[in-house]
Amino acid sequence: MSSTSPTTTIRPEDRETASPAPGTVLVLGATGKSGRRVADRLDALGLPVRRGSRSGAGAARFDWDDETTWAPALAGVHAVYVAYAPDLAVPGAPETVTRFAALARGAGVRRLVLLSGRGETEAQRAEASVADVFPARVVVRCAFFDQNFSESFLLDPVREGTLALPVSDVAEPFVDLEDVAAVAVAALTDDAHAGQVYELTGPRLLTFADAVAEIAAASGHDVAYVPITMDEFTGGLAEAGLPDDVVDLMRYLFAEVLDGRGAHLTDGVRRALDREPRDFGEFAVREATVWSVGARGAAGER
Ligand SMILES: NC(=O)c1ccc[n+]([C@@H]2O[C@H](COP(=O)([O-])OP(=O)(O)OC[C@H]3O[C@@H](n4cnc5c(N)ncnc54)[C@H](OP(=O)(O)O)[C@@H]3O)[C@@H](O)[C@H]2O)c1
Repeated sequence: MSSTSPTTTIRPEDRETASPAPGTVLVLGATGKSGRRVADRLDALGLPVRRGSRSGAGAARFDWDDETTWAPALAGVHAVYVAYAPDLAVPGAPETVTRFAALARGAGVRRLVLLSGRGETEAQRAEASVADVFPARVVVRCAFFDQNFSESFLLDPVREGTLALPVSDVAEPFVDLEDVAAVAVAALTDDAHAGQVYELTGPRLLTFADAVAEIAAASGHDVAYVPITMDEFTGGLAEAGLPDDVVDLMRYLFAEVLDGRGAHLTDGVRRALDREPRDFGEFAVREATVWSVGARGAAGER
């Protein structure tokens, strides 16, 4: 998996959605794709932020697998952003985030925003059980992130010129993490969002082939999309040395979540922010250098 240092783009209208929170905001997964953006936006608003992760420099130590780290991270916290790792769909995740939410409520936390995934049964179970212990929680239930192509497991294959996945003509309304972070910050800083479930998609349905074509057009980098079978896909992941649980998670994601059940647009960004979501084409232009600079053989340098 590659890691990059992407640009955070905060629009003036995003700032206007946030009213000051009267206390520290704990951001979990703060070194990750969504958490980093949420924490940077809160910083830009001048709000006190505690970045929680196992390893981030200057972060509060927080480990989902070590419950002794939870209470110290929550001390004096007013609001918390919860991005569970690796995925709310893994066994035991709903129980773990629910225990954390109960602890947060008991510690006096007023606002909790839970990052979730569309079409994932286990994630929706986590949303419900977190609501039982923290009724004011806000869910940001997201489509497949645009940034999976620029900061995550799809980056290296795109740079190398061929993206091969076990999906043919299924369309997905890829969502920009800048929109996800803007919605999360609005919910972390304003009680008007309490109890809401925001289902977040981009404004257009695209197949993976469409997405790759837009990346090629924006970056000038020659990249092809090749549909493959599930066995070819998981066999390749195993050959590349990925652990069994990651291979299982990928199989689940591509066999069940990306089976067409999410092939419709939702109005979550508009409901939360009173504006339209960012388009995939805007993302591709913004991040064009990720794929074009040093492409072909330079994967992982950035
Ligand atoms: N990718 C998608 O398209 C998509 C769509 C919808 C929902 N989601 C959800 O997004 C969530 C992941 O969020 P993300 O993409 O923003 O994160 P990410 O980029 O995958 O990064 C993971 C973050 O979690 C931290 N982390 C990893 N293991 C941890 C542990 N045991 N305890 C505490 N922190 C840990 C990492 O930091 P350290 O390594 O420093 O601890 C890092 O900050 C998942 O729950 C997934 O279901 C993803």
